[in-house]
Amino acid sequence: MLSTTATAVSPLAPVPRFSRFDKKVCTLGKGISGYVELYMDRHKVPYAVKVYHTKETFESKDEFRKRVLHEHAMLSNLCHRNIITVYKYQKSKLGSKVKLYMEAGTEHLSKLLKTTASHSVDELLCIWKQLCQGVQYLHSLNICHRDLKLENLVFDLDFRHLKIIDFATAEEVTLKQGQSIGLVGSEKYAAPETFASLKYDGKATDIWSIGIILYFFLKDEFPWESARHNNQKFKSYSETQSMEMPISQILAINSKQRLSISAIMQDPWFESIHSCGNNTNCGIIHKLTFSIDTINTIERHYRAKRDSGAASTATDTVDTIDTIDTIERSEIVEHQ
Ligand SMILES: Nc1ncnc2c1ncn2[C@@H]1O[C@H](COP(=O)(O)OP(=O)(O)OP(=O)(O)O)[C@@H](O)[C@H]1O
Ligand SMILES: [Mg+2]
Repeated sequence: MLSTTATAVSPLAPVPRFSRFDKKVCTLGKGISGYVELYMDRHKVPYAVKVYHTKETFESKDEFRKRVLHEHAMLSNLCHRNIITVYKYQKSKLGSKVKLYMEAGTEHLSKLLKTTASHSVDELLCIWKQLCQGVQYLHSLNICHRDLKLENLVFDLDFRHLKIIDFATAEEVTLKQGQSIGLVGSEKYAAPETFASLKYDGKATDIWSIGIILYFFLKDEFPWESARHNNQKFKSYSETQSMEMPISQILAINSKQRLSISAIMQDPWFESIHSCGNNTNCGIIHKLTFSIDTINTIERHYRAKRDSGAASTATDTVDTIDTIDTIERSEIVEHQ
């Protein structure tokens, strides 16, 4: 069973008061398992709703339910400023439609970095340090994320804290003697051992992914498309293993020689990074350097609402399970 620890830090964002009349503002993003929409409660508190794609033909209803509810099960035991806060899930009684309600963030980091001109190394290191703090919290609970990538990192809407999202493939590893199974995650960020063997150390593969992110932040490009030997760039790196410190220790090919998250965080270089935390500030106002599409959309939404006399339409209120799944109408069950 998962549990939170004394290191957990309560989220700072106000909790929305959900109502079926809350309005949809925009779509925040799409992924393999579903799409995510931004809603706003009547007190202007934003929240995100992930709507999972319906059951695949090859899986049973039970398998589908287990798969999609897994993300809520993982997130509901976590409480840290660098991990997205989950509020509840909602499923239709027959279980064919599932939604996850969570704290809303900005566009993901890959998009934020692409749509804004330039960032100082200091700013990117602040972000990376926050990522490491989130991962340290997860690993202290023996949880591996297994899909750390720029597309699974967002800022809170105040641009104060980085948030790790997408716990669809996260898992607790103690019960299996620290072993993860199966090829999950994204090619560019995946560690070499995930391609080479069925079982691997999930924590070490998270470290590899944060090493790829660090490399990208420092060099403005990815080191390779894939850590497979048929990739020339990866092949030559694996032969020499030469990269500056600490990247070479984080991207150690042998997962047993790879630094742990605690070792990374004890390094004097890491400690010298200025980052935004509960009581610390890196000195950069991230909101000014990143494109703020989400915030602009929220503001536009309120202006339009005010100008039109705040009329609410049934089509874009939050209770879309009713409209999508007519067979299961009025059979929605909520879970905290
Ligand atoms: N809480 C959130 N706040 C802001 N944006 C979010 C939030 N959750 C998800 N998103 C956006 O939606 C996208 C898809 O969400 P998520 O990564 O959870 O779905 P997925 O289907 O599991 O993704 P993947 O394709 O990585 O497996 C994210 O990349 C991000 O842009
Ligand atoms: Mg994702």
